Amino acid sequence: MTNNIYFIANWKMYGSASSLNYLNKLINLSKLKKYRNAKIIYFPPFTLIQSFINKFKNTKIHVGGQNCHHIEDYGSFTGSISSKMLKELGCKYVILGHSENRIAGETDEDINKKIHSALNKNLKVIFCIGETLKEKRKKITFSVLKRQINKGLKSIKNFNNILIAYEPVWSIGTGVIPKDKELEFNVSKIKRIISKKTRYKLPILYGGSVNNKNISNLKNIMGIKGFLVGSASQSSKKFIDIIKKTIN
Ligand code: 13P
Repeated sequence: MTNNIYFIANWKMYGSASSLNYLNKLINLSKLKKYRNAKIIYFPPFTLIQSFINKFKNTKIHVGGQNCHHIEDYGSFTGSISSKMLKELGCKYVILGHSENRIAGETDEDINKKIHSALNKNLKVIFCIGETLKEKRKKITFSVLKRQINKGLKSIKNFNNILIAYEPVWSIGTGVIPKDKELEFNVSKIKRIISKKTRYKLPILYGGSVNNKNISNLKNIMGIKGFLVGSASQSSKKFIDIIKKTIN
């Protein structure tokens, strides 16, 4: 299982029912033996989760939620979705700690509670971390990542269901990706921080402006087990291209 490569399609607040028509080629690709190690997971907006689950029935493509509430059950929280509800729908994963939610006010403590709630409901967590441009310029990337990891994973005992997504905030939606050396360095730092918490080797994924052009380079970065793809994942042609170029 160590050879799995994750391809995460984070659709953010995009997509409509008609988007599902474009997924047939991807489903066909996922069935080919050549791509058996490709772990493809879609994160549509909440409104489309059920349709995606129906679409991917009898395939090995999974579906997840883009966030969840820290209370794991039902509750009087207008506009929120709990990990229990995601699980009941058939989701296997949830993205937590995405910088777009951190920027909107989510704290490390909130994220930690959400991670606990997701793990309690047997969801796998894609835990996002990453420094802002300001933090990078101040050369405090390491301490930011360390804080995010230590606070986000506080009191976690079982690391089996956690994947780390390193997404430098300055790279999301900008078309700018880190230099190879910088990315390798930060991934190795993340591994070191995590190794102090658990002996379990958490998969580290990269996200931020991944597309079908830069993937040929990104796939060679040491220590990365997959990619979170935002805007390029909304085009199934580009997303297929990313998978094909990674596994060739
Ligand atoms: P982009 O690929 O659009 O930069 O988004 C990345 C991202 O936020 C994935 O979670």
